[in-house]
Amino acid sequence: MPNQAIKFTIIGAGAMGSAIVKGLINNKIFKPSEILLCDLDETKLNELKTQLGVEVTSSYDKLKSSLKEDALVILAVKPQVFDKVLEALVDISNSIKLISIAAGKTISAIEKYFPENEIFRVMPNTPAQISKAASAISFNKLASKTSIDKVINIFLAIGICVVVEEKDLDTVTALSGSGPAYIFLMTEALTKAGERLGLKADVAEKLARQTAYGATSLMIESGESAQELRKKVTSPNGTTQAGIENFQANNFEDIVFQALEAAKKRARELS
Ligand SMILES: NC(=O)c1ccc[n+]([C@@H]2O[C@H](COP(=O)([O-])OP(=O)(O)OC[C@H]3O[C@@H](n4cnc5c(N)ncnc54)[C@H](OP(=O)(O)O)[C@@H]3O)[C@@H](O)[C@H]2O)c1
Repeated sequence: MPNQAIKFTIIGAGAMGSAIVKGLINNKIFKPSEILLCDLDETKLNELKTQLGVEVTSSYDKLKSSLKEDALVILAVKPQVFDKVLEALVDISNSIKLISIAAGKTISAIEKYFPENEIFRVMPNTPAQISKAASAISFNKLASKTSIDKVINIFLAIGICVVVEEKDLDTVTALSGSGPAYIFLMTEALTKAGERLGLKADVAEKLARQTAYGATSLMIESGESAQELRKKVTSPNGTTQAGIENFQANNFEDIVFQALEAAKKRARELS
C-alpha cells in the first residue's frame, strides 16, 4: 500500500537533491512529512531526516511501494549510476512523473525505459544550494499542462526556472550550468590581478568577492540590464572605460563565446 502522506520522492540525496528538498520545505511547497528521500548512504539519510524531518529510505522496494498514482519523482543521481536507477524503477505505474536533473541524459534515453510516462529534463545549477538556481526545463509530448506547472513550481522554489526546447539544453548547460564557475574564475582573476598590482592577497580576495556579490545583487535587485548598469558606471575617459576598452581590445566577448561553444560541444559529447 502506498504511503498516502508521500507526495514527492527524490532519488539521490547529494548536493542537488538535498538543495531541492530544502527549497521545497522552506517555500512550503511540500511538508517534510510529504517528502521521501532515497539514497544508498544511510548515514547521510539519517542526518537529513534529523535535520529536515523528511521520510528516508535506502530500499527501492520501500520507495516503489510508497509511490502513489501521479507521484512526482526527481532523479538526482550522477549520470554514471542513472541507468541503474532507471532499471530499478522500470515496473512503476505509467502515471508517475519522472523529473531528471542528470547532465547529458536525454528524454528519449529515459523514454526507452518509460515510454508511457510524463518525463521532464531539468538543468539547474549549484546556487540551488542557497535557493538561487537558474534552471531550464524541457518535457516529452505526454507532459500535461498541470504537470508542467507543478514541475516549474518545484524549481521556482530554488530560484528561477525557464522552459526551453530540449535541443537547447546543451547551450543552457554551457551557459548557466557551468556559468557559476565562470563567475568564480572571474573573481579569481580579479584577485590575482589585484595582488600583482600590489594588494595583499587577503585584501584583494575580499574586495573581489564582495564586488562579484555586490554587482550581481545590484543587477537582480535594480532590474536594469547588465549593459545599462555597465554604461552607468563607465564615465567617459574614466578608469572603468580604460579597463573595459582593454577587455574589448582583447576580444572579451569572443573569448566568452568560445568558452560556451567548447562547453556546449562537451555537453553534446557527454549525452
Ligand atoms: N551539481 C551541479 O551543479 C549540477 C547541476 C546540474 C545538474 N546536476 C546533476 O544533478 C545530479 C546530482 O548531482 P550532485 O552534484 O547532487 O551529485 P552528488 O552530490 O554526488 O549526489 C548524488 C547522490 O546520489 C547518491 N547515489 C548514488 N547511487 C545511488 C543509487 N543507486 N540510488 C540512490 N542514490 C544514489 C550518491 O551517494 P554516494 O555519494 O554515496 O555515491 C549521492 O548522495 C547529477 O546527475 C548531475 O549531473 C548537477
